[in-house]
Amino acid sequence: MAGLGVNIDHVATVRQARRTVEPDPVWAAAEAELGGADCITFHLRQDRRHIIDRDVHLLKETVQVKLNMEMSLADEIVEIALEIKPEQVSLVPEKREELTTEGGLDVAGQAERVAGAVKRLKDVGIVASAFIDPDPVQISASRDAGFDAIEIHTGKYANAKGDDEVAGTLAEIRDGLSAGLDAGLIVHGGHGLTYRNVTPVAAMEGFSEFNIGHSIIARAVFTGLREAVAEMKRLIEKAAGR
Ligand code: PXP
Repeated sequence: MAGLGVNIDHVATVRQARRTVEPDPVWAAAEAELGGADCITFHLRQDRRHIIDRDVHLLKETVQVKLNMEMSLADEIVEIALEIKPEQVSLVPEKREELTTEGGLDVAGQAERVAGAVKRLKDVGIVASAFIDPDPVQISASRDAGFDAIEIHTGKYANAKGDDEVAGTLAEIRDGLSAGLDAGLIVHGGHGLTYRNVTPVAAMEGFSEFNIGHSIIARAVFTGLREAVAEMKRLIEKAAGR
């Protein structure tokens, strides 16, 4: 069954709104673990709009489950990953003006640069994952670039309107999942998944991990993070028939 990676960035977003010390995303990681998170995910953005360097060091020291660092290919960030050595990195595209990650990484269009970064990260023992659209070209480019895993961008499905669009985007995810597995890659999924839309994706056999942030942190405002994580875990387990 797929594990749940809880993205804690938006706890840091609230903190940074006042540039203060609370709420602490490091506390959030511990609460998420107590709720059953299998992985803690954070994105160290170049603009440090939510997670900051201090968080990264403390998360590395304190997180007991898998630690997954989302990151761009920027040299400065790659150097930090090489120093911190999280268990996994997820390479994502990053634009300063975006509200959240838009679209998948174009692995095929910058194959040499990506492969160079992947090699450096893997050489120090980090598992490398590519956040990509469920596109056959990007999937084979990810395998060729040396990635261990891909994370299929589920945002198009999350934004789909009407039954036909939902069915079409789910079919794209299903095809991407099988193409990834056929290519020998570990397959994760994430972006835009919520308590309302996770079930059809979580019911697909073959995913290893779902990374979910905004919906869990939003619910946690009302229920507490431990319960919000536990509820998402229950939904994933139920969808997988557990
Ligand atoms: N996976 C990746 C690669 C992401 O960039 C994000 C957003 O930071 C997520 C998953 C989680 O997306 P959401 O916050 O919409 O659940």
